[in-house]
Amino acid sequence: MAHTTDALLESDIEAYLTAHENKSLLRFITCGSVDDGKSTLIGRLLYETKLVFEDQLAALHVDSRKVGTQGGDLDFALLLDGLEAEREQGITIDVAYRYFSTEKRKFIVADTPGHEQYTRNMVTGASTADLAVVMIDARKGVLTQTRRHSYLVALLGIGHVVVAVNKLDLVHYSQEVFDRIEADYRAFAEQIGIANVVCIPMSALKGDNLLERSANTPWYSGPSLIPYLETVEVDGPAGERPFRFPVQWVNRPDLNFRGFSGTVVGGDVSLGDKVRVLPGGQTTNVSRIVLGETELDSAIEGQAVTICLADEIDVSRGDVLAAADRPPEVADQFEAHIIWMHEHKMVPRRRYLVKIGTRTVGATIDTPKYRVNVNTLDHIAAKSLELNEIGVANITFDRPVAFDPYDENRDTGGFIIIDRLTNATLGAGLLHFALRRSQNVHWQSLEVDAQAHARLKGHGPAVLWFTGLSGAGKSTIANLVEKRLHGDGVHTTLLDGDNVRHGLNKDLGFTEQDRVENIRRVAEVSKLMFDAGLVVAVSFISPFRSERQMARSIIPEGRFCEVFVDTPLAVAEERDVKGLYRKARAGRLPNFTGIDSPYEAP
Ligand code: ADX
Repeated sequence: MAHTTDALLESDIEAYLTAHENKSLLRFITCGSVDDGKSTLIGRLLYETKLVFEDQLAALHVDSRKVGTQGGDLDFALLLDGLEAEREQGITIDVAYRYFSTEKRKFIVADTPGHEQYTRNMVTGASTADLAVVMIDARKGVLTQTRRHSYLVALLGIGHVVVAVNKLDLVHYSQEVFDRIEADYRAFAEQIGIANVVCIPMSALKGDNLLERSANTPWYSGPSLIPYLETVEVDGPAGERPFRFPVQWVNRPDLNFRGFSGTVVGGDVSLGDKVRVLPGGQTTNVSRIVLGETELDSAIEGQAVTICLADEIDVSRGDVLAAADRPPEVADQFEAHIIWMHEHKMVPRRRYLVKIGTRTVGATIDTPKYRVNVNTLDHIAAKSLELNEIGVANITFDRPVAFDPYDENRDTGGFIIIDRLTNATLGAGLLHFALRRSQNVHWQSLEVDAQAHARLKGHGPAVLWFTGLSGAGKSTIANLVEKRLHGDGVHTTLLDGDNVRHGLNKDLGFTEQDRVENIRRVAEVSKLMFDAGLVVAVSFISPFRSERQMARSIIPEGRFCEVFVDTPLAVAEERDVKGLYRKARAGRLPNFTGIDSPYEAP
């Protein structure tokens, strides 16, 4: 494709960049099975448009430095902002973002490799895309993969799909084949609620219907791919949406300036607008909007700016500035779609981290209500979610946050799930609505507090957490410690795994999920006893670091002491006080810690 602006590249760099900056930007993803021809298509797009934007700009950058005396400081920020934002969301995994442009439009295509981890990559790419190109091999038609990807596309709120029925050259450009695939796809798209579907008969390899209507498909009267991508209108009613601005950081270079930096992720904002700070709820007015050195009158969706407020109110990173009259809701319990993306399956009630907007909070997910069969769209009973599975579950955050349903705003309604210890991305989620129970249960303040208990008892409370293999000697040592403390007049209690499993935790076994719940309950009980002023000895195998960390995190700093009873497996097994190791080795006791269930040493 000829670029008249290319001439400008030589003569007037500023004009060249301005011409590009003023074009609209379309972000799209490509999806399909491994050999549907995605790479060929992207290669073709780059080739046909004869402009690899990114590379060109890199060269320009160097040039502009060299000829810097000409006075023009080039602002690349505008072009690279999008990429930056994706990086900051912390969910850039295996996705290559490719930039290209034509006379009419700039494009960013998230090229997501089609291997096992596909779901993860696709969700990453799709989270900011406006449109999806779904590739279908004309010889194969609509496959499970096609349905899975389309389901994700719909779930993630991408309203526009182009179905590229590819490799049509291999079926002799048959209209029948094309019509059948189109009908199949449209039937499925309707079920999952994708409103805008355009099907194009193509050969990415041969270039049919890529740039212009192909002579090989005289029966086709729809658009070719590139002209369609250049002109499709994907903007939702942006102006209609209420203003949303998650605060990325508090910008306070000196005492005279206090601004809040971030990106407008919904609606727009102007000087003087009344805004509400959430979750706190205070209101004030916008006094300044700053972009670099420039003072603005207003800022629109997608713009990264610094906002100053008329009143000195408490705002910190993670808070959301919002239209005062149309604020987001604030809650800590929700129903959500969860897309699991890690080899290690989701464990209900485990404490994960969740990043929503610019805020990170602790979170636990309940046992799923169901998972979805992406082929039939049936709801299937599930205890957990495995890699690539999609389900619906309730989720509880450890603090209230400001949110919108994902359908209304992807940024304030979408979240990622992170492992507390490794920081790995485990999954993604989309908030549906807040659970009413979270709004109706409040904290009751108690008058006999920790100090009062300590005064009466003559000492402060503590939790001594004994961990180690079965037969390591945890209970023996915990017993001796308790006896000694008791002798010294300390008020103590001892929670022992075997004993608690006879009562409170009678319903739990030894699967990973049950152990997580076992420790969650005993951690909560030890907290209650701690609050009653006791020194609590806890003796549980507690094999997972994550849950021990959770137990520590709910007890005040300095009052939780982990004691690792570090007996080697061989010694514990040699002792075998309860004969359980023998049973486990004989295969009659599954999930035995140290044998076929892990112990994560502190
Ligand atoms: S934990 O892993 O969930 O923390 P907990 O300390 O409550 O375990 O219970 C461990 C006790 O249960 C062991 O001391 C042992 O007596 C008994 N037990 C029965 N089955 C198992 C098993 N599969 N793995 C470990 N302990 C088991």
